[in-house]
Amino acid sequence: MAMESRSATLQSFLTLLLTLSGFHLAESSGTNLGLTPHMGWSTWNVAQCRAASARYALDAAEKFISLGLKDLGYEYINIDDCWSTRKRGASGKLAPDPVKWPDGIKAVADQIHDMGLKFGLYGCAGQMTCAGFPGSEGHAASDVDQLVGWGVDFWKFDNCYTPCKVNPRPETCPRPAGNSKTWYAPMRDAILTARSARQIHFNLCNWGRDEVWKWGAQYGAQSWRISPDNYGDWASIERIATAAAPISQHSGPGGFNDLDMLYLGSPKLNAHQERLHFGLWGMLKSPLVLGLDLGNISASTLETLTNRGVIAVNQDPLGRAAAMFRPPGAPEPEPGRIYPYWAGELVDGVVIGLCAGMVAGRYGVEFRDVPGLGRKSYEWKEMYTGQTGRGSGVAFDIGLHDMRVVKVAVPGAREGHVGL
Ligand code: GAL
Repeated sequence: MAMESRSATLQSFLTLLLTLSGFHLAESSGTNLGLTPHMGWSTWNVAQCRAASARYALDAAEKFISLGLKDLGYEYINIDDCWSTRKRGASGKLAPDPVKWPDGIKAVADQIHDMGLKFGLYGCAGQMTCAGFPGSEGHAASDVDQLVGWGVDFWKFDNCYTPCKVNPRPETCPRPAGNSKTWYAPMRDAILTARSARQIHFNLCNWGRDEVWKWGAQYGAQSWRISPDNYGDWASIERIATAAAPISQHSGPGGFNDLDMLYLGSPKLNAHQERLHFGLWGMLKSPLVLGLDLGNISASTLETLTNRGVIAVNQDPLGRAAAMFRPPGAPEPEPGRIYPYWAGELVDGVVIGLCAGMVAGRYGVEFRDVPGLGRKSYEWKEMYTGQTGRGSGVAFDIGLHDMRVVKVAVPGAREGHVGL
C-alpha cells in the first residue's frame, strides 16, 4: 500500500512536470490531435448500415448546431460501416455508394467543415469490413490518399476479415491468429506518412485485442477500442466500464481508451442508466460519441448528454482517467459489476463518481478517503443535480443504476484555480 501510494505520488509529480512543461504524449508523435477525448456522433448505433449516408450526416450536423451540441464540444460527424459500394472501382479505388452519397464524399465533408465541424469515415484492416464492404488490406496507401483528397478528419479502423490461420477466410478470427499489430501496421504507416498533408485522427477498433492500450499510441492512434461492442443494454455498460477501470492509466492526452460509442437513447436503458453511462464514460475519459437519432430525442436524454459538468470533466486538460477506489469498510469490487466508488484527478480538483450500480441507497465518502484529497474541508458541486456544498465529505440517496458526479475543488491544484 505504502509502495503504491509512493509510486502514485511519483506519477502525479511526473505528470505535473510534463503538464507544466507543456509536454504531451501527442506532441512526442508529431501531432496535436486528441489532446482530450474526441466528441461527436456516429451512424452505427443510429441505424447501422442504413445511416451511412449523406442525408444522415448532414441532418446530424445541422442538429449539432440547432441543439447547441457544437457549442458544447461535439465536433465529429462519423460515418461507420456500409458507406461504399460492395466492390472497389475499376482502378482499385474505394467508391462511395451513389445512392447514399449522390454528390460524393468530398461535397459532404466540405459542407460539414463549413459548419465548423469535422468529418469521419470507417474502414477495416482485413479484406472486407465487418458488414462485407471493401477492406483496406493491400490498399492502405491508396485508401489514405483518397481520405486526404476528400478532406476526412477521422478514420475508424476495424479488424474483421483479417488473416486467419484458424478458419479459412472470409471468416473473422474468433481469436487473433498472430497479433493484430501486424494487421494495423500498413495503415499506421499510411496515416503517419499522410500526416504532413492532413491530420487524420486514427481510431483503432480491434475490440481490445492484444492489449491495444499498451501500443495504440505507438501506432499513431489517438484512441483505441478496449472491448467488444456496446449493445445499448445495461449488461454492456457493466461489462465495458468494469473492463476499463483497471487500465485507466493507459489513457492520456494524445491517446485515450475508447469505451465504444455512447448508447444514450437506447430503448434498453432508462434515465438512471443513461446518466451512469454518460457519467462513467465521461470520468473514464472515453471519447463521447453519440449514437442516436438527433431528430427524435427525449428531453431527459438530451439533458444528460448536454450536461456541461460531465463534459468538462471529460475534457479536462490533464486527461487523467478516473479509477475505482475502496474507502474503509467498503466491499471489494466484484468482477463485471459497477463498483460504487470512483475518483480521478482534474487540473483544478478531483472528480468523485458515486454509482448505485448494484443496489439503490445512500452513498457517500469522506474526502480524506478519496485519492488526491486530504483531511480538510472542500467546496464541491454535483453535476447532475447542481447541488453545491462545503465540508469534509458528501452523501446522496441514489436510485438503482443512477450516479452522482461530484467535482471537488482543490484551489491552485495545478495551473491555477478554475473553480466549480
Ligand atoms: C464492429 C465495430 C462496430 C461497428 C461495426 C460495423 O466491428 O465494433 O463499432 O463499427 O463493426 O460493422
